[in-house]
Amino acid sequence: MVQAKPLTEKTISQSNQIIQFNHPVKYRTSEWYTGHGEIVASGDNRSFEVSASYHLKATVKLVNQILNLDNPTLAEIYSSRGRCVAIVDQTVDELYGEAIRGYFEYHEIPLELLSCRAWESDKIPQTVHKLLAFLGKDGCDVSRNEPVLVIGGGVLSDVAGLACALQHRRTPYIMIGTTVVAAIDAGPSPRTCTNGSQFKNSMGVYHPPVLTLVDRTFFRTLETGHVRNGMAEIIKMAVTDDPILFKLMEDYGSRLLETHFATLEGDEELQEIADEVIYRALFSYMKHEGTNMFETYQDRPHAYGHTWSPRFEPAAKLMHGHAVSIGMAFGATLATEMGWLSADDRDRIIALCSSIGLSVYHPILEDMDIMLEGQKNMRRKRGEGGLWAPLPIGIGECDYAQEVSSGLLQQGVEKHKQLCVSLPSGGEGKEMYLSDLGLA
Ligand SMILES: NC(=O)c1ccc[n+]([C@@H]2O[C@H](COP(=O)([O-])OP(=O)(O)OC[C@H]3O[C@@H](n4cnc5c(N)ncnc54)[C@H](O)[C@@H]3O)[C@@H](O)[C@H]2O)c1
Repeated sequence: MVQAKPLTEKTISQSNQIIQFNHPVKYRTSEWYTGHGEIVASGDNRSFEVSASYHLKATVKLVNQILNLDNPTLAEIYSSRGRCVAIVDQTVDELYGEAIRGYFEYHEIPLELLSCRAWESDKIPQTVHKLLAFLGKDGCDVSRNEPVLVIGGGVLSDVAGLACALQHRRTPYIMIGTTVVAAIDAGPSPRTCTNGSQFKNSMGVYHPPVLTLVDRTFFRTLETGHVRNGMAEIIKMAVTDDPILFKLMEDYGSRLLETHFATLEGDEELQEIADEVIYRALFSYMKHEGTNMFETYQDRPHAYGHTWSPRFEPAAKLMHGHAVSIGMAFGATLATEMGWLSADDRDRIIALCSSIGLSVYHPILEDMDIMLEGQKNMRRKRGEGGLWAPLPIGIGECDYAQEVSSGLLQQGVEKHKQLCVSLPSGGEGKEMYLSDLGLA
């Protein structure tokens, strides 16, 4: 039998006038969010200070065949709540809508589903407004404690996560990432956002899903270009944090690409490798990202490849993964120029990206105005204390460059160009450009 808690747990110290406040469990309404704090009075009856901490429990789980009728995962979450409000990527709805509707019908759970086009060009505030209309009073009137189900790629997870953050200031959501990027990176990420006019992801809030379900069976229907695109985010964690993951990608990267992570074909061994690669990438990413909720610490290995690319990615109309891999390859060359990384490790990084058709070079790197502007924007975004550019110092470890002078930047670009022209592809990747631009 659980002992009833006292109404409020207060510690009052008259001398320094500190009141600690732990809100009683019986008043708690959220499964996922809790908080406590203290209030300290100065003693002059004119000012006081409040310190509060916010606690979030977020779970990330690899699952198999989430939409199979006999898979209880979603039914267990939604049947007791009496309905499921879902936002689904339009393409995913076309491919899996019948299975999604069939699942909820079979489990007798009313489903209110919005199918939302989520191209990169839709990653704009208007899409967030549209989603808010669906979630809000004139739509489904989602309650503050009702977890919205979001099923789709990274664009949808960013905009729908932001809409959930705005609905009642913080409405929980459950994310099923259906692309590689969304499964291992954008999906569980606390960073929800929309694009600004020139700079990607510039408006948003920190609001991770309370539960991320990763089911690689969705990768079966992805275009191969999108599988490749997502692999850049896996390589990012391999280079900066996990040498075993790096070796797995060297040994199996091409096979995982061809088989869409062992969903088109592949024996039991490849299936296990696919799960291990996904798990390692996720764990490594969330170890750093999930524990640094508000990006107040800049030891962020997952920002590798993302220092200059947010500026040149939209300018060159690159797919996100290719922009990141160009940023990573350039970062490796720069790290070698700075004496941080051996030439052998630099070449391994560039070779791994190239081996699966990711770009490692684009002439836009030579546009110093764009590169320096990207650097300036990034410095501002990361808090003005420095550039904090993660650069590899070996395979599986990195450090952070506080400053990169324009001279060093130029030197790095020249060296990188020289290295890449000798590659069979000249550094170009396969299907490196966005195809959905201009169609919005
Ligand atoms: N918040 C973060 O931390 C974070 C991290 C990484 C990337 N991102 C963002 O994620 C976005 C890229 O995400 P993405 O690569 O998933 O692209 P995406 O969301 O554009 O999806 C790619 C395409 O695949 C389609 N699709 C989705 N699932 C499918 C499936 N199972 N089968 C067939 N088609 C499917 C989509 O409709 C879309 O056309 C970028 O905008 C990037 O900025 C955010």
